[in-house]
Amino acid sequence: MSAVDLFTTTYSRSPEGSYSAPGRVNLIGEHTDYSGGLVLPFAIDARATLAVARNDDNVIRVVSAQRPGPVQTFSTQEIHPGSAAAQTWAGYLLGSVWALRRAGHAIGGLDLALDSQVPSGAGLSSSAAVESVTTLAAGAVHGIHLTPMEVARFSLQAENEFVGVPCGPMDQTASAAATAGAVLLFDTRAGTVENIPFDPAAHGLSLLVIDTRVAHSLADGEYARRRASCEKAVDIIGVTSLREITVEELPVALDRLGDEILTRRVRHVATENQRVTDTVDLLRSGTIGPIGELLTESHRSLQYDYEVSCPELDLAVDTCLAAGAIGARMTGGGFGGSVIALIPSPLVGQVARSVMAAFETHGFAEPVPRLVNPSDGAHKVNHE
Ligand code: GLA
Repeated sequence: MSAVDLFTTTYSRSPEGSYSAPGRVNLIGEHTDYSGGLVLPFAIDARATLAVARNDDNVIRVVSAQRPGPVQTFSTQEIHPGSAAAQTWAGYLLGSVWALRRAGHAIGGLDLALDSQVPSGAGLSSSAAVESVTTLAAGAVHGIHLTPMEVARFSLQAENEFVGVPCGPMDQTASAAATAGAVLLFDTRAGTVENIPFDPAAHGLSLLVIDTRVAHSLADGEYARRRASCEKAVDIIGVTSLREITVEELPVALDRLGDEILTRRVRHVATENQRVTDTVDLLRSGTIGPIGELLTESHRSLQYDYEVSCPELDLAVDTCLAAGAIGARMTGGGFGGSVIALIPSPLVGQVARSVMAAFETHGFAEPVPRLVNPSDGAHKVNHE
């Protein structure tokens, strides 16, 4: 059911408006966003839509098309991190309201109806989509104009501080600030974004995302451990962030580390930042093909140096490449989730079939392939 229909059925009135925000895929620049690095995500056409109206009861009411059940009601005074609700699906919506209110924005009662078409657990940032759409919608109906970067910031606070997941700023920023037909170059050290036109179709190429169906969880500790390793390396090398270490300076920095595992982690971050720069240079010069090789190098670095891949992701990447993809890599946090592959358009069917067959042979769950296109970030939905 659409968000507007769900709203009308649930609350017996019309919403004041409806808003929509996308999930994201990261083209390249993985596990660099919490080290001041460069990332290059884009919004996908799977979106979360939220119908919203203010109420005079000082409560937040939420319903979701994906979680049938009675309306859940929360007093605006009682929304706080650590509450039981923060650990449920409603936490993403409540967290955004909490972050806005904490910043002094006068957000009152709200009736909300959510319809999210972003698959959860697929590494496509379904949570960031819900946070961005809630931040945007809650602000808008209270007459608060938020820039895309402000939407991203409050949404990130919801995720980090309310839900309690220690992620970096990439996903919320992509969901809030991306534009159609472009990848978003996000310099996480400078806090700046730039949309770089990206039109694979014009080059006869398609972007296929393959959900391995291995549920990834950022909360399981490995993600936090990678972050901690980067912070430890920063201390030992004596820099402010790993972003300062360019590939030219890498040998000297690694000498100073004197630790095998930290060496590999830092090598990933420095080379990955360079791969983002190289990808952007290629896009700016109107070339797309050679990006394929950079995507595959990124995967190998995540697989062997950063060690955040898993057998299903590796099999999907290797099979895509063997079946004709010009590049493929895991995308997102890793340990499951999705792979992105850049494929000559006539070969898409063949690549997808090969991956399905390989997964069956290995006894893995049936993967879900989807074609994706760089889409718009969060915005108001205009109804006819
Ligand atoms: C997850 C996090 C992001 C980012 C990626 C890895 O998606 O939410 O902040 O760290 O992992 O690039």
